Amino acid sequence: MMKQNKISKLFDLTGRNIILTGSAGLLGSQYAHTLSEAGANVILVDINEKENKNLEKKLIRKYKTKAKSYVLDISNKNQVKKFKKEILSKYKIIHGLVNNAAYTTKGARSSAPKTFGPFETLSLETWLKSIDINLTKKRCYC
Ligand SMILES: NC(=O)c1ccc[n+]([C@@H]2O[C@H](COP(=O)([O-])OP(=O)(O)OC[C@H]3O[C@@H](n4cnc5c(N)ncnc54)[C@H](O)[C@@H]3O)[C@@H](O)[C@H]2O)c1
Repeated sequence: MMKQNKISKLFDLTGRNIILTGSAGLLGSQYAHTLSEAGANVILVDINEKENKNLEKKLIRKYKTKAKSYVLDISNKNQVKKFKKEILSKYKIIHGLVNNAAYTTKGARSSAPKTFGPFETLSLETWLKSIDINLTKKRCYC
């Protein structure tokens, strides 16, 4: 019990504002729960509005934190600019970023070509889009 208390103190994120991109995804939703359990107010960023909103409700109910979902395409420069302005004005300070959003088979369910499979069948369009979202735009976020 003593040890557990020490660990939760060490990882205490109470009142910290953390941006988490790709929050509605497989790993993202797990990160959201872990961060919320540690007390963080998670700023949930995803293009999947429905699942992100559901996650927001679950987190608030379970952890009583100020989780908030936002629909944002991280590859859209104008949307990111607008989001940054809104977030800084609302939260004043951002304590952390989990840069997790990714163009994957599942995440891109609706738009990815069916060939998002074996490397040798990957179309150039899919390759370029995944490099853009999964690499370039992640760097821009920092
Ligand atoms: N799942 C695994 O086992 C695993 C293992 C190792 C690494 N990873 C990596 O971790 C990351 C997340 O993986 P995952 O399995 O949770 O993927 P996922 O597809 O379940 O989640 C990705 C999320 O990103 C969102 N997203 C996609 N494009 C976006 C955009 N332009 N703007 C905002 N949000 C966007 C999707 O809607 C989705 O909710 C990926 O980079 C993946 O390669 C995953």
